[in-house]
Amino acid sequence: MSERNIARWTACATRGAVVSARRRTRLGGAVALLAAALLSGGALQAQETVSPSGLGRPLTDAEQHDRIVGPEGADLPPGSGTAAEGEMVFARRGCSACHGPTGLEGPSIALVGGDITTRSNYFPIRHWPFAPSIWDYIRRVMPYDRPGILSDDETYAVTAWLLYRNGIIQQEEVMTAETLAEVRMPGRDDYQQPGTWTPETRRGFRILTEP
Ligand code: HEC
Repeated sequence: MSERNIARWTACATRGAVVSARRRTRLGGAVALLAAALLSGGALQAQETVSPSGLGRPLTDAEQHDRIVGPEGADLPPGSGTAAEGEMVFARRGCSACHGPTGLEGPSIALVGGDITTRSNYFPIRHWPFAPSIWDYIRRVMPYDRPGILSDDETYAVTAWLLYRNGIIQQEEVMTAETLAEVRMPGRDDYQQPGTWTPETRRGFRILTEP
């Protein structure tokens, strides 16, 4: 089994445990037979369906392509989109049903403007320090009721539209992996990078060692 396969099995072992528990109930002795075959070392081609521990399952295509894009945007995929395209995506993909036709009217939270207050339980996106995080959030989490349906291009487009509506980019700017990573968010300087950690770095709280 290649290292990649081991990583894939490890990643889904927890969820797989539930699945295999269910399967075990259904298949009963068949699983025991399969396990015995594996132990005897003669079931190499069963690698894709049964992990060495008997737990987990191979990732689905969708899971293999799921990815997290970091704040610097280095992992952004190819693709592009503009604000004008994003406005259409916002309506076509049903974002407007929850956030309102212009991203302001609700019933869900406003995506345009807004300030951080002690009463609000979310960060208006113009206060987010890094633009690629907006892309990442939308691509993986929205639409709330059907996450993951947006293509990469649609995500670039709708991100461009929201950045434009928040006064952060110009209407005609094309968002790509490169240009999105270069967008400077207005609140960027409100956040401090943690300094380089050393063993002497003090924590923000005191650890009590006395009983
Ligand atoms: C079914 C309702 C629903 C739909 C449809 C929906 N959203 Fe959301 N959206 C929400 C809710 C609820 C939240 C807050 C989620 C939370 O904080 O856990 C949210 C949060 C967001 C945020 C984060 C805002 C912030 O300041 O934290 C963005 C960006 C966003 N949605 C964009 C979109 C886009 C783009 C679409 C369409 C592809 C979309 N949403 C579709 C309900 C929806």
